[in-house]
Amino acid sequence: MASLHSNSFFFFYYLFYISSSLLLSLSLLTSSVSAGSSSANYSTTNHHHHHKWVGPVGHRVITVDVSGLGEFLSVQAAVDSVPENNRMNVLIQIGAGFYIEKVVVPATKPYITFQGAGRELTVIEWHDRACDRGSNGQQLRTYQTASVTVYANYFSARNISFTNTAPAPLPGMQGMQAAAFRISGDKAYFSGCGFYGAQDTLCDDAGRHYFKECYIEGSIDFIFGNGRSMYKDCELHSIATRFGSIAAHDRKSPDEKTGFAFVRCRVTGSGPIYVGRAMGQYSRIVYSYTYFDDLVAHGGWDDWDHVSNKNKTAYFGVYKCWGPGSKNVRGVSWARELDYESAHRFLVKSFVNGRHWIAPADA
Ligand SMILES: *[C@@H]1O[C@H](CO)[C@@H](O)[C@H](O)[C@H]1NC(C)=O
Ligand SMILES: *[C@@H]1O[C@H](CO)[C@@H](O)[C@H](O)[C@H]1NC(C)=O
Ligand SMILES: *[C@@H]1O[C@H](CO)[C@@H](O)[C@H](O)[C@H]1NC(C)=O
Repeated sequence: MASLHSNSFFFFYYLFYISSSLLLSLSLLTSSVSAGSSSANYSTTNHHHHHKWVGPVGHRVITVDVSGLGEFLSVQAAVDSVPENNRMNVLIQIGAGFYIEKVVVPATKPYITFQGAGRELTVIEWHDRACDRGSNGQQLRTYQTASVTVYANYFSARNISFTNTAPAPLPGMQGMQAAAFRISGDKAYFSGCGFYGAQDTLCDDAGRHYFKECYIEGSIDFIFGNGRSMYKDCELHSIATRFGSIAAHDRKSPDEKTGFAFVRCRVTGSGPIYVGRAMGQYSRIVYSYTYFDDLVAHGGWDDWDHVSNKNKTAYFGVYKCWGPGSKNVRGVSWARELDYESAHRFLVKSFVNGRHWIAPADA
């Protein structure tokens, strides 16, 4: 009975995704185009296919404070003050408080860091849902709902939270996707950050990303997209009321290097939930050394639509997971219990080519 209920619920959700798939692919296209043009500006290519990376030059600190003690009152105003084609390391220090605004970091502004006063102290929040209308009168759709959207490369955030405060939907309700954060830039680093929402909290859209000691909360597919990302020492907290799911990965071909690698995470909260869903045909999700509370649904994983045989092409793996829910993550025949040999690449920061852009102390 539980599975019947969950199937119809996810089916409604799936229909919504189909109707939004055109916009979805458009947005992916846009982000990959802009990522390509910006990285071209920061590398010089010689005649031997050797890429010499030219990093940022110089430092600048910008302060933001809601109570007026900084240079700017809003985070967007601080981002706007960074010139196009930025080449400096820019640290935006954001004082304690709630910043009620929607923020965009455009692709032309790489090397920006948001640094809060603490995950519980500095919060950027907004409340858009997929069914809400934008300034052009069109529905926003999932990817445009994020309270904070980053298209730029080399973005980082430390000790700050991102929230979408739209009320949590009941299962089956449509148009209620409400992202707190969307990362579409390459080589993004997050540590000590919080991501709060319900359905589709964290849009891990495209590019290589590293999340260290972050807290991510939601109900349905609350980490989703086609990122190539490592989540290390993170807490994944479910607030699902009747049924939910953690990660939906959208890898579309066996040639893509994308995937979600969860290492030494803690899965807590309410269930039952699926730990992974095959959003794309070649979806790739691996949990290693991860603790699962007793909230994992029977079967553990979901093939998204039951028609496209994703159970033959998705790569779902577990390695040395533990806790009362861990027996269910091995619950379907197509989720692999990995050996060290096959798990290794999902355990190390080279999964995101981290040696070139993540300092050893930050990994
Ligand atoms: C890259 O350089 C071109 C030409 O110099 C410029 O028009 C474009 O805005 C730059 N893009 C970025 C992301 O820096
Ligand atoms: C972030 O917060 C942690 C824990 O409170 C603290 O140890 C660390 O120094 C902070 N980092 C920054 C960059 O403020
Ligand atoms: C795989 O999914 C198909 C439907 O898409 C189903 O008929 C089949 O039984 C599934 N196989 C396994 C091993 O779960």
